Amino acid sequence: MWRKWLGTAKQDSVNLSLVEQVKQKPMPQHIAIIMDGNGRWAKKRGMMRSFGHRAGADRLRSIVRTAAELGVSVLTTYAFSTENWKRPAQEVDFLMKLFWEYLDNNIEEMHQNQVKVRFIGKTEELSPALYEKMMAAEKKTANNTGLVLNLAVNYGGRAEIVSAVQKIAQEVKEGTLSVEDITEEALSDRMYTAGLPDPDLLIRPSGDLRISNFLLWQLAYAEFWFTGINWPDFTSEVLLEAILEYQKRDRRFGGLKNK
Ligand code: IPE
Ligand code: IPE
Ligand code: MG
Repeated sequence: MWRKWLGTAKQDSVNLSLVEQVKQKPMPQHIAIIMDGNGRWAKKRGMMRSFGHRAGADRLRSIVRTAAELGVSVLTTYAFSTENWKRPAQEVDFLMKLFWEYLDNNIEEMHQNQVKVRFIGKTEELSPALYEKMMAAEKKTANNTGLVLNLAVNYGGRAEIVSAVQKIAQEVKEGTLSVEDITEEALSDRMYTAGLPDPDLLIRPSGDLRISNFLLWQLAYAEFWFTGINWPDFTSEVLLEAILEYQKRDRRFGGLKNK
């Protein structure tokens, strides 16, 4: 797929030797990204925040291509949190419009390249038209076998855990689940990410060193990688750098050093 798909390497001027280097070692199966810093990127250039969001959407398009070409199995990107409603209505409206546009402009290409698009978060609380569009995108790409792209929209890690617990409580009440069967696996199975491996690598651009309510359950043993680069400047090359760094980490999962 690397050569076949749209020449991202050219578009993002990726150093091909970096690609070769990254391919020497196991790829993270699941990468999670907090797409942050759009506003600061725009402000630095004397532009409105919306310009930063638009530039951020372009970055997502490239990073999806690159992740797919690299053979990453799952990419989960944080686009709008349950706390982002606190922003001015004008900005929220712009972001909702941008999600709509993103689907319009990219769904066909993603579909042709076997990307399976999924939305995680309380998408049912968005406008009915946007929600329907999102569900249609999921349905269209449901049988694709390439990269799984989770787009986190109106997503909150705590809200996700609460909803998993509610499902479990309901099942216990109905007698279909016993208290002894409430295991870590049972909870995982009731998260939005059910059936997917946990993230191996979490990336947060923009210089902020926090997870802002993202994938609280799933990030238990993820490797964290932070960069001061803002999301609109996040090229495929930066992604490769993050993966290279990840490949140098010693993941012990509580056990002993294995080098
Ligand atoms: C991330 O960029 C996009 C969303 C949260 C929707 P920000 O809008 O948070 O940009 P900064 O953090 O203000 O620079
Ligand atoms: C996290 O970024 C959410 C997204 C990138 C979608 P925020 O910009 O909302 O996070 P805080 O407020 O800096 O923690
Ligand atoms: Mg931010």
